[in-house]
Amino acid sequence: MGLSRGWRSRYLFFVPLILFLPLILSVSRLHQNSIPQKESTRRPSKKSDHLVLGPAAGQGLPNRLQCQGLKAMNKIRMRRMGQNLQSSGFVSFVTVYTIYNSSLKLDSTCTDVVNVGNISYSKAERSMAILNTFINFVQVSMPSSSVIILTDPASEFSLNRNNAAVVPIQGDYSRGKLMLQRIRSYIAFLEARLAEHLEKLNSFNHYVFTDSDIAVVDDIGHIFQRYPQFHVALTFRNNKDQPLNSGFIAVRGTPDGIYKAKAFLQEVLDVYGSKYMKASRMLGDQLALAWVVKSHVPFSAKKFARHEAFLGEINGASVLFLPCAVYNWTPPEGAGQFHGMPLDVQIVHFKGSRKRLMLESWNFFNSTSNMADMLCLILKSGRTKYDF
Ligand SMILES: *[C@@H]1O[C@H](CO)[C@@H](O)[C@H](O)[C@H]1NC(C)=O
Ligand SMILES: *[C@@H]1O[C@H](CO)[C@@H](O)[C@H](O)[C@H]1NC(C)=O
Ligand SMILES: *[C@@H]1O[C@H](CO)[C@@H](O)[C@H](O)[C@H]1NC(C)=O
Repeated sequence: MGLSRGWRSRYLFFVPLILFLPLILSVSRLHQNSIPQKESTRRPSKKSDHLVLGPAAGQGLPNRLQCQGLKAMNKIRMRRMGQNLQSSGFVSFVTVYTIYNSSLKLDSTCTDVVNVGNISYSKAERSMAILNTFINFVQVSMPSSSVIILTDPASEFSLNRNNAAVVPIQGDYSRGKLMLQRIRSYIAFLEARLAEHLEKLNSFNHYVFTDSDIAVVDDIGHIFQRYPQFHVALTFRNNKDQPLNSGFIAVRGTPDGIYKAKAFLQEVLDVYGSKYMKASRMLGDQLALAWVVKSHVPFSAKKFARHEAFLGEINGASVLFLPCAVYNWTPPEGAGQFHGMPLDVQIVHFKGSRKRLMLESWNFFNSTSNMADMLCLILKSGRTKYDF
């Protein structure tokens, strides 16, 4: 309670700054040197080193989260509180993560320490904190689920969590190849599961391949019942150039599902290798994903403009397309339309410069145990670029 009051008073303090922020930023882009002294000492870069609360988008809109201060006014329907926990089957979140001692050494100079709450983080520690926070959210929202971390055998970190396991997979995890390697690691992982399945055909363990900068805020296991036909599920948004986000790929844990998902990812990998090697190292996988989908599901572009889930077929695989707005929600960066947060949001993706917000959100949740209020915190501060 004391904490949230503290946040509220900070909120009041920053309201004037927030109103002028767009102006300050656009001016600073044109006239780097003419920023008033007071502002430039306040914010030496465009990124913030502390939470900045703004107005909540989507106020007054139906089916959008309504916030008063940091109190959620709607009743959020949380599936994890429901009865159907058992029926959702077992779900593992699979993510690729690497960290090396060389990056830790660079850190020991202490030039780049960041404080979040009462804790100071070096660069490497931030990266581990994000991973741990990802695991925390899974533990809270889907207590019977696990996390599997695919990593370079040369990667050096230890993780002492009872719902997480580390699986080394050989490959080239260098920065420039990481997105390519990520698909390769997913494929290698599915191959190993397929080999296992021949022995224990009855175990139903579904997989959701995700980025690690996400917070699972509700039990997404229900998608495997709600849409019983799909083998692979992807998230889409209404964005012509990048309609698909590679940060969420769900795979049904049947032998058929795993086999078809593997074949699908293999095609994405081939397209990446043949068409998008020159693309930005960050986006190649998403461009390849979009290329494969568009070439097999011709009506997809039209459907991406709507917000409803739909099915398509790719080489015999049934592919479910889920709206990012619910299953992979990210506050849009900078200007642009922003219609708030859907009440049934399941996953929040703290892309790019919003990673600090992920840690802040966890701290807030850990002290309040209120997921809906935490979503208000995210909604109100998600537009700001943070300094890591
Ligand atoms: C890397 O760092 C960890 C933790 O500090 C340490 O235990 C390990 O021995 C180091 N490995 C190498 C190869 O330096
Ligand atoms: C930070 O530390 C202060 C004083 O040590 C304490 O009162 C406060 O509750 C701490 N805040 C958090 C978020 O842990
Ligand atoms: C939650 O908060 C408590 C008390 O501030 C702290 O001791 C604990 O480490 C936190 N847990 C996590 C997982 O962050």
